Amino acid sequence: MKNKTILVTGGLGFIGSHITEELLDNNNVIVIDNLSTGKLSNLINPNHENLELIQKDLQSVDLNSILNDVDYVFHLAAMASVPLSVEKPVTCNLENVAATVNLLNACVKNDVEKVVFSSSSAVYGENKNMPLKETELPMPTSPYAASKACCELYLKSFYESYGLNYVALRYFNVFGPKQDKNSQYAAVIPNFISAILENDQPVIYGDGEQTRDFVFVRDVAKANINACKADYNGIVNIACGKRITINELFSIIKKTLNTDIDVRYLPERLGDIKHSQADISNMEHINLKIDPNDFEKNLSETVNWFKDNL
Ligand SMILES: NC(=O)c1ccc[n+]([C@@H]2O[C@H](COP(=O)([O-])OP(=O)(O)OC[C@H]3O[C@@H](n4cnc5c(N)ncnc54)[C@H](O)[C@@H]3O)[C@@H](O)[C@H]2O)c1
Repeated sequence: MKNKTILVTGGLGFIGSHITEELLDNNNVIVIDNLSTGKLSNLINPNHENLELIQKDLQSVDLNSILNDVDYVFHLAAMASVPLSVEKPVTCNLENVAATVNLLNACVKNDVEKVVFSSSSAVYGENKNMPLKETELPMPTSPYAASKACCELYLKSFYESYGLNYVALRYFNVFGPKQDKNSQYAAVIPNFISAILENDQPVIYGDGEQTRDFVFVRDVAKANINACKADYNGIVNIACGKRITINELFSIIKKTLNTDIDVRYLPERLGDIKHSQADISNMEHINLKIDPNDFEKNLSETVNWFKDNL
C-alpha cells in the first residue's frame, strides 16, 4: 500500500502499533488513541514525518474534519477487556458500539473507501463446532463479545445501505512483541515468559489440556493490510487453524528459555472455554496464508522481546 491517507484508531496499542509501523514509510497515517492501554513507546518513532498523532478519545474528536482526505480506516480502538466489559456494560456499549456507528457514519459522509474492523473470536462464545466457521451464529457470553458481534452487523448494514466496504477480522489468540503482560487476552504467553524471566512459577488453570489457536501479531498486521486491498466484504477468521494445548505451549517456552522451572496447576477458571480452533478457509479471500510451522520462530522472537523489555 502506497501514498494513501489512513486512519488507525487505537494505533498506539499492541496490534495497532504494528499496523501503524507497517504503513508509516509509504503512507500518511493518522492515529487516534486515548492512551487508555496504548503507549507512545509502542512506536519506534512517534515523531515520524508521515504520522499525525491525535491523543484523544475517539468519542470526543471531530471525525468529519479528520476523515476529510482519508482513504482507509483501520478500527481497533475499543474496550478490549472481557472482565471490564462485564463490570461496565454500558461503557462498553458506548466505547465499542456507539463509537463505531459514529465512525462508520462519518466514513460514509467522507467517502472513505474501506473500513477494516478488529473483531474477535469471542463472538463464538462456547460454540463447540470446531473448527469454527464465520457462518456460525454468534453466541456471545460477555458484553465485550456482544459488542463485537453488534459492530459486525453494523458493518454489514452500512455496506448494504450505503455501499461502505468493510472486512471484519475475527482474531483468535494474538501474541508477539509489545503485548502487555497484564492484558486479558491470550495473556498466557506473556505470563509464562515473564514469570520464567522473573524466576517465578508460571500458573496453568485446569489440567493444561485446553487448546488455543495462536496467531502472531505481524500476521495480524498483514491480515489488516491485505483485507484493505482485497476485493472482498465480509468476516474473516485470523488464526493458524491449528490448536495446541497449554501444556505443549509451556514445554516449548520452557525449551526456548532453557529453564527447569515447572508449572503450578490451579483450579480451572470459571468461564474459560476448553477448546478453540478456527476454520481459516476465508483467509484466502484476503490472500493471506499463515504458516503454522513458524510458531516456534515467532515465539522465540517474542521471548527475545520480553528479555529486552521486561
Ligand atoms: N489481542 C488480542 O488477542 C485480540 C483478540 C481479538 C480482538 N482484539 C481486538 O483488537 C483490537 C486491538 O487490541 P489490542 O490487543 O491491540 O489491545 P490494546 O488495548 O493494546 O489496544 C487498544 C488501543 O485502543 C486505544 N483505545 C481504547 N479505547 C479508545 C478510545 N475510546 N478512543 C481512543 N483510543 C482508544 C488504547 O489506548 C489502545 O492503544 C481491539 O479492538 C481488541 O478488541 C484483540
